[in-house]
Amino acid sequence: MKKRSPVSRSGRFNQSAAEALIQFTESVSFDWRLWRQDIVGSMAHARMLKKVGILNKKELDEILRGLEQIGDEIDAGSFEWDPALEDVHMNIEAALTQRAPAGAKLHTSRSRNDQVALDMRMWVRDDLIALVEDLRSLQHELVQLGRKTFPTAIPGYTHLQRAQPVPFAHHLLAYVEMFQRDLERFSDAFDRVNVCPLGSGALAGSTVKLDRAMVARELGFVDHEDQPRLSQNSMDAVSDRDFVVEFMSNAALTAVHLSRLSEDLILWSSAEFNFIRIADAYTTGSSLMPQKKNPDLAELTRGKSGRVIGNLMSLLTLLKGLPMTYNRDLQEDKERLFDGSDTLHGCLRIMAAMTAHITINEESCHQAAHDPDLLATDLADYLVQKKVPFRDAHHLVGAVVGLAQKKGVALNQLTLRDLKSVDSRFQRDALSVFSLERALKARSTVGSPGLRSVKQQLTAWQRRLSDERS
Ligand code: ARG
Repeated sequence: MKKRSPVSRSGRFNQSAAEALIQFTESVSFDWRLWRQDIVGSMAHARMLKKVGILNKKELDEILRGLEQIGDEIDAGSFEWDPALEDVHMNIEAALTQRAPAGAKLHTSRSRNDQVALDMRMWVRDDLIALVEDLRSLQHELVQLGRKTFPTAIPGYTHLQRAQPVPFAHHLLAYVEMFQRDLERFSDAFDRVNVCPLGSGALAGSTVKLDRAMVARELGFVDHEDQPRLSQNSMDAVSDRDFVVEFMSNAALTAVHLSRLSEDLILWSSAEFNFIRIADAYTTGSSLMPQKKNPDLAELTRGKSGRVIGNLMSLLTLLKGLPMTYNRDLQEDKERLFDGSDTLHGCLRIMAAMTAHITINEESCHQAAHDPDLLATDLADYLVQKKVPFRDAHHLVGAVVGLAQKKGVALNQLTLRDLKSVDSRFQRDALSVFSLERALKARSTVGSPGLRSVKQQLTAWQRRLSDERS
């Protein structure tokens, strides 16, 4: 096939583009992913051009038909992308003009600068919705695992040292809360992304009287009252990519949450903790050590969070020194965006699938959660009930812990006499503190890991998620 010359070089240039330039500047190898948005955006623009008298009915029909055909070919994989035509926009426009001469009018009052801003906003908009879906699915699996394992308790940790007992479900629900905020951040971002930049031209709008509202409406850039949402400053519209940064910032934070969850799963599945078992289908073996069963999916998810954070840094760095308005540097936003999105979708989906294949090791959890040391704070609370100031109670229980260590016994094996040797305010009922059931029951304030409140939380989340998914 003969090489088409890039539309942007026609007229002004006496030499054709150097091969090295084509290779270095092309973006179609990755921005082809914007093809749907580009075609739908062009269709809306064409309809508007007809309305304002630039295109006649025949020309519009020809353009719409051509664009539809091109879309079908891309979808079927038969469309031939040409790097000499730089990007997705020029590839589609050139193909259109080849089959529909009126295609040459399509770029009236439009620049690739507002076109790419439009395509990117539409792409991000779609992806925000998809990410919210993925986050819901993961939340759903975490809640299911919480329900399946309820009321099994494990130690909660601070400084990775055993601290206080919590139902396993409470630990999982902590992540459900984190992912809820992530999800809300993605939905909140939607409103800021959902502003139509088309009509901004290269940077200074157009001398043709456009109907921007019509385009915006057609492409779904409307507010809750169905009013069109139009960018109000043409220079801002073509030059900022803050919506991509905001997307990636939310993505990076979600990836960090996923990474922390991964770390917990990795620890829990180790022989040292042995709280959970990840199904064989979701673990890998070692090429050398036959006994190994590795949590690679969680490790990769933890590792991939670095990519998303890296993408955020790249985007911020990309923007920080740019003079107004459009600069070609902005082309570099796409691979970061696509990589961040692909990575996050991949991690969310694999984490949901793996979570559905986790079982709990009741025995080890039981043993660990019954470590009486976990209830040292409860013993201090006991003294508080006896009117001892908490600071003193903390000190006294510290002495009790020291005594148990000196005697080489567990905290709950001390006698009443031992306790009284530390402080006379310990009564007969002091030893009843060392009941896990009692300890969990006693934690009844909002947000605490008491069995009742955790059960309520599980039910509430279950209901909320199934309502939102239906
Ligand atoms: N591929 C370009 C990008 O992603 C499209 C805009 C090109 N505009 C230009 N004036 N060269 O940024």
